[in-house]
Amino acid sequence: MPTLDGEPMARVMAKAQSLGKLTCLDTVWDATGKWMETLLPVLTYTDIFMPSLSEAQKLTGQTDEGAIANELMRCGVKTVVLKLGDRGCYFKAPGMEIRVPAFSVNAIDGTGSGDAFDAGLLCGLAKGWDMATSARFANAVGALCVTGIGATAGVRSFSETEAFIRAQSA
Ligand SMILES: Nc1ncnc2c1ncn2[C@@H]1O[C@H](COP(=O)(O)OP(=O)(O)OP(=O)(O)O)[C@@H](O)[C@H]1O
Ligand SMILES: [Mg+2]
Repeated sequence: MPTLDGEPMARVMAKAQSLGKLTCLDTVWDATGKWMETLLPVLTYTDIFMPSLSEAQKLTGQTDEGAIANELMRCGVKTVVLKLGDRGCYFKAPGMEIRVPAFSVNAIDGTGSGDAFDAGLLCGLAKGWDMATSARFANAVGALCVTGIGATAGVRSFSETEAFIRAQSA
């Protein structure tokens, strides 16, 4: 989004934070190749940054999840969430480091799993759940997403997603 990227986005995020809101940000693969040049002004105002592992590696030049998170926190991110595909997710914030394994599903199409995960995470946090519980719910929404073709066919209702988690935990 050329007219929003960089400083304009930073102003939006700063305003949201000044109003007491939680700011969350995801990325897409940057075909322009600018990566950190675009994002650096925004990261200072980002409470939760949730890129995929490959995007986070490109952004930071690091490969290891802990090193990636440290670099992003150095840039101002409060909580780093790395999406790890069929390995689930990794969270790091000051005094907190958690890995939450993925649910086991018959994956058909990965389209939209990142957005589905983000929605699940924000749903959990909006309900006041802690990070680990929200991460588990996010993994479930992402896992269900990849069981269908396209970005939304596999995504289920809140109660069906809860039932999926219960069934997988049994
Ligand atoms: N094969 C899978 N099995 C189980 N869970 C999966 C699988 N693929 C994705 N997920 C879940 O969905 C989340 C997001 O997937 P992924 O890591 O591929 O994100 P992404 O690369 O940002 O996706 P997108 O291409 O939609 O942007 C993962 O963290 C995991 O919880
Ligand atoms: Mg993504």
